[in-house]
Amino acid sequence: ASSAPCGRRILATMAQTAEDRAFQQARLRVEELRSLINYHDYRYYVLNSPEISDAEYDELMRELRRLEEQYPQLITPDSPTQRVSGQPVEAFGIVEHRVPMLSLANAFNADELRAWERRVRNLVGEREITYVVEPKIDGLAVALVYENGRFATGATRGDGIRGENITQNLRTIRSIPLVITRPTPPRFEVRGEVYMSKKGFERLNEERASRGEPLFANPRNAAAGSVRQLDPRVTAERPLDIWLYQLGWVEGAPMPVQSHWEALQWMRDLGFRVNPHISRASDIEEVLERCAEWERRREELDYDIDGVVIKIDSLALQLELGAVGREPRWAIAYKFPPTQGITRLLKIGVNVGRTGSLNPYAILEPVRIGGATVQMATLHNEDDIHRKDIREGDWVIVQRAGEVIPQVVGPVVSRRTGEERVWHMPDRCPACGAAVVREPGEAMYYCPNDACPAQARRLLEHFVQRGAMDIEGIGEKLAYALFDAGLVKDPADLYYLTKEQLVALERMGDKSAENVLRNIEASKNRPLANLIFALGIRHVGSEVAALLARHFRSIDALANATEDEIAQIEGIGPVIARSVASWFRNERNRAMLEKLRRAGVAMEEREEAPREGPLSGLQFVVTGRLETFTRNEVEDFLRAQGASVGSSVSKKTDYVVVGEEPGSKAEKARRLGTPMLDERAFLRFLRERGITVPEKGS
Ligand code: IVH
Repeated sequence: ASSAPCGRRILATMAQTAEDRAFQQARLRVEELRSLINYHDYRYYVLNSPEISDAEYDELMRELRRLEEQYPQLITPDSPTQRVSGQPVEAFGIVEHRVPMLSLANAFNADELRAWERRVRNLVGEREITYVVEPKIDGLAVALVYENGRFATGATRGDGIRGENITQNLRTIRSIPLVITRPTPPRFEVRGEVYMSKKGFERLNEERASRGEPLFANPRNAAAGSVRQLDPRVTAERPLDIWLYQLGWVEGAPMPVQSHWEALQWMRDLGFRVNPHISRASDIEEVLERCAEWERRREELDYDIDGVVIKIDSLALQLELGAVGREPRWAIAYKFPPTQGITRLLKIGVNVGRTGSLNPYAILEPVRIGGATVQMATLHNEDDIHRKDIREGDWVIVQRAGEVIPQVVGPVVSRRTGEERVWHMPDRCPACGAAVVREPGEAMYYCPNDACPAQARRLLEHFVQRGAMDIEGIGEKLAYALFDAGLVKDPADLYYLTKEQLVALERMGDKSAENVLRNIEASKNRPLANLIFALGIRHVGSEVAALLARHFRSIDALANATEDEIAQIEGIGPVIARSVASWFRNERNRAMLEKLRRAGVAMEEREEAPREGPLSGLQFVVTGRLETFTRNEVEDFLRAQGASVGSSVSKKTDYVVVGEEPGSKAEKARRLGTPMLDERAFLRFLRERGITVPEKGS
């Protein structure tokens, strides 16, 4: 056509119907999709270094399938839709699979799963169907052949017909039995997924980063890369494991089972690792519930799952249903929305936290991941950025899982152009210009300026939030508006706001202003733990705040405590203790506390009416470590018996319970002549009063 005279070409083009044009467009796109998919298959299966996310890959496949459905004349035998991806690497030696290793069709939502069920139903008629529902492990499929009870050959799936012989590598996985002690058929094959636990993956990546080696994007790539090592010694050092999920075939003996469920049990009995979360369901709605449950609970597992596999239990039905192309009709994968995506990291920004921490974050070209648009992701700290070699301008893998803030996993080094820029933490706080500091042993940089406006603004936002002073009606927006208008410079100023000041703000009517004031008023009586948390002391989250409140019972007692006294509390270490003590030494903070006090904010743990019990009227102080109880347990226990528990020894103290390595309290008790009970004496003391002591930890 290229040699056709110009005029004829134009005429021909004009004569083309719109349909023709659409077909030509489809043909070009189909070719393009095929070469893209082949390229990405190669990156994924051969190099173990994908450049696009699974979701993007699935999308390419879907588009290709859609076009081929529309224009069946475009289907060719070598189209990626017609075969199982992955070419075996010759270096391993090739294993021919006696029974092809199939792939699975995907359902991306409930309707697609129901549609599968209807197709099955049409073929099966009224006969009963039981489903087996399995977590879809995100790893690498392998087949293990046993001969006379011994592990003989292990192979990857390869292209489904021929896989790579990775027997030596699989032998290094401890949970794969090398010998089976029970009677077995002369030859059989089991199939399953080799995977790496999330913990193992993180440890491996940390080691790699410290050696300056490229990081794996996710546990699946790490597992695949580890199994397909030419040197089994490398594989042996990788934290790999396996879940077996299929009986491939049996030779020299009758099939020992009638159903998939029985097969799993049979495999388990032989000593194979079969996932305990596999269950059965009797209809598709139950299957869907199970899918939704795993979608919710996927984070609880110590390994990645990317969906749920649903299989028809009866082997007879499986045989009857057979396969279409590379996919069996009797099984389907319900895929979760993906958790990773790839996009450009445009710039690294720095956020000033309420404690002055300087938090780098990635500004991304917006990307859809798992149904949400992500345009920002956390980068933890500068060391981490350098460890992962993340540069401005890089293509990066972004991960968004569950409720957590999206994270940048690492760069796609193969997409670098040379224009990328190595990033460094600025020398000065981006908000106030103070020279930043980094404390020895800490990964974070801080802005040391306690008058930094960015910190004050964030502190205000923190102070009003739930779990802190919980001031309803003041969210991030209003908190910032109050700060920017100069009405509230520190959280204590909230308690001095007037209605006139509030209504002067944009979009604040009389009613809302009154509401806000009422909510501020109500917050004056929050529990002590909330107040301590609200202060925004570095390293003091809500749990530590609760420990401090329970121990000191008033802001004054806490403010006057020494670093050592604070560090004595179980669950509180020296770093937290130092941070708390230094917060209370700071003049500005003390002034703010005074302002809060003057406004009428409660500064003490409300004394719950002491319970009536055998120890009513007695005050105890506990010091040192006990065998029978943790510190919190013993204090709660004493209160439950009606006693009160003090944080320091005074004349009012009736008994001091002294454990191992007691602090200065034992010394003070000696000086005051307060009766002291060591642990044995304390237990006897309780028994004599008919009080039974609970088991430790109960
Ligand atoms: S059954 C014909 N069960 O998912 C049945 N596969 O997308 C084929 N996978 O190649 C496999 N967990 O690598 C099955 N419980 C499970 C699975 C599972 C993960 C993987 C396997 C398979 C791929 C198909």
